[in-house]
Amino acid sequence: MAEREHWNNRLGLIFAMAGNAVGLGNFLRFPVQAAQNGGGAFMIPYFIAFLLLGIPLMWVEWSIGRRGGQYGHGSLPGMFDTLTQNKVAKYIGALGLLISFLVMVYYVYIISWTLGFSFFSIIGTFDGIHDIETMKTFLYSYQGNGAGYFTSQWPAYFFLMITLGINFYILSKGISGGIEKFATIAIPTLIGFGLLLVVWVFFLGTPDPTKPEFSTFVGIDYIWKPDFSLLTTSNIWLAAAGQVFFTLSVGMGTLQAYASYLKKDDDIILSGLATAGINEFSEVIIGGMIAIPIATAFFGLAMTQDIAAGGAFNLGIVAMASVFTDIPFGSILSFIWFILLFVAGVTSSVAMAQPLISFLQEQFRFNRKKSTITVGILMLLGVHFVFLFFEHGFLDELDYWVGTFALVVVSLAEVILFAWVFGMKKGWEELSRGSDIKIPRIFYYIIKYVTPAYLIFILAFWTFDSAIPILLFKGVKESEIIYRLGARVFIVVILISFISMIWLAWKRNNGKAFTQDEIEGGK
Ligand code: PHE
Repeated sequence: MAEREHWNNRLGLIFAMAGNAVGLGNFLRFPVQAAQNGGGAFMIPYFIAFLLLGIPLMWVEWSIGRRGGQYGHGSLPGMFDTLTQNKVAKYIGALGLLISFLVMVYYVYIISWTLGFSFFSIIGTFDGIHDIETMKTFLYSYQGNGAGYFTSQWPAYFFLMITLGINFYILSKGISGGIEKFATIAIPTLIGFGLLLVVWVFFLGTPDPTKPEFSTFVGIDYIWKPDFSLLTTSNIWLAAAGQVFFTLSVGMGTLQAYASYLKKDDDIILSGLATAGINEFSEVIIGGMIAIPIATAFFGLAMTQDIAAGGAFNLGIVAMASVFTDIPFGSILSFIWFILLFVAGVTSSVAMAQPLISFLQEQFRFNRKKSTITVGILMLLGVHFVFLFFEHGFLDELDYWVGTFALVVVSLAEVILFAWVFGMKKGWEELSRGSDIKIPRIFYYIIKYVTPAYLIFILAFWTFDSAIPILLFKGVKESEIIYRLGARVFIVVILISFISMIWLAWKRNNGKAFTQDEIEGGK
């Protein structure tokens, strides 16, 4: 009898999981979040959220995943169903399919820009562009948003297709032969590239001695100097929690999917910590030391703050590209930066496709090839919406609902299912089984009380503070409303489709996962 696939070895597993977590969130999103929310002071709510939400949820997700794998399930509907035997639970699991699939729909588009920019760095496409405004026009025209260097969206389309192709090529090779193999090369490479840039940042120091305030150290100071007065504002606490979720890939169904390929007694506590450690190193040490310090050395602090306020792409893509056109070895450094983003992005985006691929295999008896192709085609259809409506806020709307809001909902649901419905006593045994280190007892209580309470607080706060204006499109440009509404309809339609598929699968087969033999024999 054929067995369910497994990770090849422990290091490979850790690289794959780290690949899942380390992504654009670390290098583009983190520095901007830190800079906008009190600099060094941000690290306090960030660290608290990491300890009370990030780590506990990550362990819970690994153990829900490992347990689900024992029943042949790699996606949340089946995992929640076997965890609780409650009739509704599997439908909550639909959110896990929704989030991972839809985040991938816009995430691949963003990483395809970084592939394009790696290529432009090498061939010198933006060589003559030294100022930010012109570089912005360059990026916008690439995205099909106004006149500039590009007269059509075909180059962007081309890089998007290549990016999708690479993703589904890796996925078609399976868990250990595709994802694990790729991550084993990708993670060391990107950490190496990142450290290289960090060292360069230190050597760069003050590039123009007549302007001592234009220095990487001023930028480092800015990110790390705490403005404690901001700690009393609620926003910084929400932003910190949001960043922890996004960067650790918590609340999306992807960690669970990867964990379902563990063996029954494989350790999860230590491996989970190692993965989180690699992620935090990449985020705080590498991510925090590149974009902002470099921009400060070339544009000064005031302008860097403006750029960061304009968003992650203005800083990490536009500002960085224009800096590199100006300096010796610029095209190589520029290539290193953009390919680092691309590689980090791909190891995350493949993770986002995995839950749906598993779902089709285990619930609908698609073999791996058929399942990968099906998800590939669905993805291809989906990205067109983002590609065509990008300038109208379609991507932002998706990111808000599925990439930010829904994560909190899924996390709350799963921690309640785990600690309260499945039961914390059994949950604790599940967590500790096979563990290489003893999990501190205090996490028993954190998982049972603190994490759910923290999440309820976040949701309640959001409801009182911003639900109504956001739902009613307050502050959104008139012309965008129709597209943003479209994005919401898009989300709801896909959610309903997943719910119907779950209903069908459970009706036909009572949700039992097909065995490996059945799947491989499947059409
Ligand atoms: N954690 C990834 C990042 O930091 C994003 C991600 C989201 C990965 C969802 C997998 C699933 O960019």
